[in-house]
Amino acid sequence: MESKFQIENLAILGGKPAFSDALHVGRPNIGNRDRLLERINDMLDRRWLTNNGPFVQEFEQQIAKMVGVKHCIAVCNATVGLEIAVRAVGFKGEVIVPSFTFIASAHALQWQEITPVFCDIDPATHNIDTSKVEQMITPKTSGILGVHVWGRPCDTSALETLAQKHNLKLVYDAAHAFGCSYNGQMIGNFGAAEVFSFHATKFLNSFEGGAITTNDDDLARKIRWMTNFGFEGYDNVTFLGTNGKMTEICAAMGMTSLEDIDNIITRNHHNLQTYQRCLAGIPGISMIQYNEEERNNYQYIILEIDPQKAGISRDALVKVLHAENVLVRRYFYPGCHQMEPYRSLFPHAGLLLPETEKLVQRVLSMPNGTAITTGDIELICDLLRFAVENGEAIQEGLTARQ
Ligand SMILES: Cc1ncc(COP(=O)(O)O)c(C=O)c1O
Repeated sequence: MESKFQIENLAILGGKPAFSDALHVGRPNIGNRDRLLERINDMLDRRWLTNNGPFVQEFEQQIAKMVGVKHCIAVCNATVGLEIAVRAVGFKGEVIVPSFTFIASAHALQWQEITPVFCDIDPATHNIDTSKVEQMITPKTSGILGVHVWGRPCDTSALETLAQKHNLKLVYDAAHAFGCSYNGQMIGNFGAAEVFSFHATKFLNSFEGGAITTNDDDLARKIRWMTNFGFEGYDNVTFLGTNGKMTEICAAMGMTSLEDIDNIITRNHHNLQTYQRCLAGIPGISMIQYNEEERNNYQYIILEIDPQKAGISRDALVKVLHAENVLVRRYFYPGCHQMEPYRSLFPHAGLLLPETEKLVQRVLSMPNGTAITTGDIELICDLLRFAVENGEAIQEGLTARQ
């Protein structure tokens, strides 16, 4: 492997990739396979595959217990969950949301013909900058959709104060934040409702899936009906609803994954510490930190690249690592406001999003989870260090090959 650390042996300059198999960000954690297969057999024996089956009911109870919330409604994915939640709370007109988020946060609003109004982020937290929310409020604003980016909670106290002051509704996209806490309280208890994602790439995985949690009895009832076409009883439709139901096989996977979360957290945390140790002292590369006094799932290993200090851009590092089969991701490049339909609808949105525009050029999401080894991480970090130390030579090599 020594030879890898000569410029000409980098894969981007024609060398052999450091990894024969691709290392993905968000490679699923599988949990106990036997337990999963046992559950699938039970499900097949019962012939109850969907429509609020026993696994979904059990899974909902387990989540509600863990989060310490009154109601949990399992859904087919977080995007549909968000669509249901924003409709159920009565969002309309305009809703303030960060642009630095996965596109589903904005789409869930736009899909309901609610206009997402993009707010800038705090560069220290990557979350919505609560000091900039007020200036985005107009007479049409009905709410705020906060996003707990990387599972690090928004400043929910400040958002709560703003929501109360301006009579706005508050919902959270908690897609990243299952198992995380804010001031000791589990995410899932804030705002009118919160929406988790259990997509295969997430900390808790039900293949596809999600959950809406709330402490509001009436809202919970409404959300449950909306998730099942608006049916309140066998023949009684009382709301406009959709099909947001979670299937039994997804709940089976979700429960199996839930049994494994302590192990996943331990692995994620260990990986984070390995990255921290191995990246220490590389100029221009910093890592987001988690508040160790809170509960964290440590699912996201997020680097920020300062091109001036590193002497190489984030995008050049992406090219170097991709060639080595390390498929790092530029989440959430280029920002929702730079994607359609928002780019055309709001061509000048970027003027009010300077921190978002800066951050999308710098962020790098690294492989984590149970599918990566300490040795893999050490090698990835060595590659990063080597690339930073040889930024100029890499650039020259690339130019010469063009
Ligand atoms: C912040 C955020 N919101 C929403 C979603 C959508 O989740 P799902 O894939 O479960 O629909 C994601 C998924 O990646 C996300 O990262």
